Amino acid sequence: MLTVFSFIGCIQAVTLELNEGNSTCIKAELSASFSITYNATNSMVRTVTTFSLPDTARVDTGSSSCGTNGSSARLVAVFGPGHALGLSFSTNGSLYSVANLTVQYNLSDTSVFPEANSSDVVTVVSSSVGIWATMNTTYRCISPASFDIGGANVTFSNVRMEAYMRGNDLSPRESVCVADQASTTVPPTTASTTTITTNSSGTVCLLAKVGLQLNVSYFSQSQGKIIQALVNLSPKMNSSGSCEASRATLTLTQEQTTTLSFTFTLNSTKYHLSEISLVANWSDMAEPLSASNSSLNYLQSSLSHSYMCNAEQVLTVVPAFSLNTFKLQVQPFSVTNNQFSTAEECQVDQDQMLIPIIVGASLAGLVLIVLIAYLIGRKRSHAGYQTI
Ligand SMILES: *[C@@H]1O[C@H](CO)[C@@H](O)[C@H](O)[C@H]1NC(C)=O
Ligand SMILES: *[C@@H]1O[C@H](CO)[C@@H](O)[C@H](O)[C@H]1NC(C)=O
Ligand SMILES: *[C@@H]1O[C@H](CO)[C@@H](O)[C@H](O)[C@H]1NC(C)=O
Ligand SMILES: *[C@@H]1O[C@H](CO)[C@@H](O)[C@H](O)[C@H]1NC(C)=O
Ligand SMILES: *[C@@H]1O[C@H](CO)[C@@H](O)[C@H](O)[C@H]1NC(C)=O
Ligand SMILES: *[C@@H]1O[C@H](CO)[C@@H](O)[C@H](O)[C@H]1NC(C)=O
Ligand SMILES: *[C@@H]1O[C@H](CO)[C@@H](O)[C@H](O)[C@H]1NC(C)=O
Ligand SMILES: *[C@@H]1O[C@H](CO)[C@@H](O)[C@H](O)[C@H]1NC(C)=O
Ligand SMILES: *[C@@H]1O[C@H](CO)[C@@H](O)[C@H](O)[C@H]1NC(C)=O
Ligand SMILES: *[C@@H]1O[C@H](CO)[C@@H](O)[C@H](O)[C@H]1NC(C)=O
Ligand SMILES: *[C@@H]1O[C@H](CO)[C@@H](O)[C@H](O)[C@H]1NC(C)=O
Repeated sequence: MLTVFSFIGCIQAVTLELNEGNSTCIKAELSASFSITYNATNSMVRTVTTFSLPDTARVDTGSSSCGTNGSSARLVAVFGPGHALGLSFSTNGSLYSVANLTVQYNLSDTSVFPEANSSDVVTVVSSSVGIWATMNTTYRCISPASFDIGGANVTFSNVRMEAYMRGNDLSPRESVCVADQASTTVPPTTASTTTITTNSSGTVCLLAKVGLQLNVSYFSQSQGKIIQALVNLSPKMNSSGSCEASRATLTLTQEQTTTLSFTFTLNSTKYHLSEISLVANWSDMAEPLSASNSSLNYLQSSLSHSYMCNAEQVLTVVPAFSLNTFKLQVQPFSVTNNQFSTAEECQVDQDQMLIPIIVGASLAGLVLIVLIAYLIGRKRSHAGYQTI
């Protein structure tokens, strides 16, 4: 006979923080669930129990360590009567990783281990589990990941954590686990390409390749308060635009809920992004948001060059709306042969040339490639025919 006892609580996110003096050295926000096999009395089969790390779990400062004085860094969370989850970290200066995971469970806790035929406190330790991140970045893994450790299985999800911290908050730069990258990243090479050509001889006049993320604050109907929302734009947005001698516009629309426009202005031999406007009508919005600013001066570059910035850029439009760009390359004027001209790269990229960017790619979750055909020639000839 198989006896399976399940104690499936709601899997909640738990925040664990280890401090040394006034500063934080390890911080972890995560959900964890455990599935443990044990021997029950009067049963010829082994029993499985599952439970999750409760939000009453607290850091055991006695067995935890920042790893500053030669010892290894270790975060131990204790919960219930004698249960514990431990993460040991190691670093080689450029990367840090979880060296091993420890699960300790107390078979005397009959609420979790009913009819256990032992009252032992069992401790199991894993070997390396493949959790690693660049120093000074936050390890992020929203996707669930399971680890088998002896008779115990631990599943982590919604993980954001950092060891060997320099500040009191998790670093804004993230090292994203492979599972998350697979589910959210569209590498630029496979990004959708939108070509607007109504004229077979149309020349491309504007080229853009970019991952876009909207950072918008609005009044949420469901939450009854103003919220800050980050929205990745789909690479499948529809694009349209126009090119004039000293002004080029690009408009991206998504299912009548989001319209984002860019205007580039050419001033003798320099061009810049002078206007961004957004109209958003999302289901949770109390009222549609309309925001624009026509006195911007972003993405400055020289005529006959493209502008490139692989690093994230924050383009503030109005207080309630900013736009985050990733892996940006754009050329709004003087495009020749349907391809980007030599790029002028942003200062951040130049500064970061020396730093290996492991996580950058993962942030560019969504990449748009837009080509706008030069239509003026056709319009002229069209108009010509009409007047005849
Ligand atoms: C911690 O903060 C207190 C008050 O801000 C300060 O007096 C103390 O010197 C700080 N200790 C360390 C180790 O930085
Ligand atoms: C169950 O009992 C067997 C036999 O005593 C032992 O070998 C095994 O380690 C036990 N399993 C667990 C999960 O305690
Ligand atoms: C516990 O259960 C296992 C498997 O059913 C059995 O082999 C073992 O002898 C039991 N141990 C005790 C102390 O009852
Ligand atoms: C294990 O659980 C029992 C019963 O809840 C408790 O009396 C005992 O102190 C616990 N052991 C440890 C090491 O906490
Ligand atoms: C740290 O380990 C990684 C991966 O094993 C390796 O690529 C890197 O060069 C190491 N860094 C140092 C400073 O040893
Ligand atoms: C991490 O940041 C600290 C202080 O900001 C710096 O001294 C250290 O070199 C950085 N480490 C790496 C690997 O970038
Ligand atoms: C876990 O990893 C830490 C850091 O490498 C190491 O000091 C410790 O001995 C390991 N624990 C076990 C039980 O292997
Ligand atoms: C979004 O905008 C708010 C307010 O300007 C800012 O505090 C926050 O850091 C931004 N978030 C991101 C991920 O850009
Ligand atoms: C355009 O160029 C003129 C002359 O060089 C300068 O006065 C003006 O400020 C420039 N305008 C912008 C928006 O850069
Ligand atoms: C916003 O969307 C709602 C529901 O889809 C629709 O009823 C409403 O007319 C839209 N408002 C605007 C200004 O487009
Ligand atoms: C428009 O952008 C300019 C330049 O960034 C800024 O000074 C101005 O405050 C913005 N306007 C609004 C309404 O936010």
